[in-house]
Amino acid sequence: MSTRPLAPVPASRPRTTFASLSQQKANGQPIAMVTAYDYPSAQIADAAGVDIVLVGDSAAMTVLGHDSTVPVTVDEMLMLTAAVRRGLSTPLLVADLPFGSYEGSDEQAITTAQRFVKSAGADAVKIERGGSSVDRARAIIGAGIPVMGHVGLTPQTAATIGGYRAQGRTAEEALAVRESALALQEVGCFALVFEAIPTAATDALMPDLHVPVIGIGAGPGTDGQVLVFHDLLGIYDGHTARFVKRYAELREPMIAAVAAYADDVRSRRYPEAQHGYPMPPAEAERLRELLAAGEGHVTGIRPRRRQDG
Ligand code: KIV
Repeated sequence: MSTRPLAPVPASRPRTTFASLSQQKANGQPIAMVTAYDYPSAQIADAAGVDIVLVGDSAAMTVLGHDSTVPVTVDEMLMLTAAVRRGLSTPLLVADLPFGSYEGSDEQAITTAQRFVKSAGADAVKIERGGSSVDRARAIIGAGIPVMGHVGLTPQTAATIGGYRAQGRTAEEALAVRESALALQEVGCFALVFEAIPTAATDALMPDLHVPVIGIGAGPGTDGQVLVFHDLLGIYDGHTARFVKRYAELREPMIAAVAAYADDVRSRRYPEAQHGYPMPPAEAERLRELLAAGEGHVTGIRPRRRQDG
């Protein structure tokens, strides 16, 4: 697998860098992040001018049809990440390390992260949870690859945290989120995702966080926000979390467009004359003459004789 060079940077917009993200936090300029999973969604995110694009393991659900993020494989995520890379010019590209691809050991985590950077063109990787993931983050960063942490609701391990529910709803739970966040910050994560954390808890934790915090269901007090591409555009048909805001309802018009196409095909309204390729009338006439004269052997292929019995 290989990657293409980055798409040309529009004159009006500089590339997002790790330094520019820190600067945005320092200046109080919110960071806009969105997921993308393929070339067209990356091109759309790029044209929209977001700061960070995440190839989320939410791909397992939004594009691969699984009912959780757990089944997506490294190879699947590498293919999606490489496609997204080809569609981006200025946003920073972060790829999720899928469940089971980094937790086992530091060596496993480094090897997987290196594949995302070397063969898919990611600028950074994201891993979920505190605990042993803090060691994995330290190891990956030590190997020279920037890491984004992810705390609060961590979908890869939803089963062990009581399902898809907000985290940090009690003071003790919020302190546990804080411990993970501070540990990830301490080992050098360049940014953190806060997912499904009560606004009041986020606000209480933010003063201790010196790296950019990107929220999803964590209230307005973070340094930026992230949403899943298919959720914000209204394409995904599955469960919609409380924090999702739909900016479009594209599923119905997409279904209507494909249905209109199928209808046109069945009723022979498509294709029309302008959808075909012209042939010079003299060539069409010559073709008819050649066929009539039995000269159909120019290509070496003769029409099959009908077996009339
Ligand atoms: O996989 C994903 O899309 C994510 C975002 C929700 C942050 O991790």
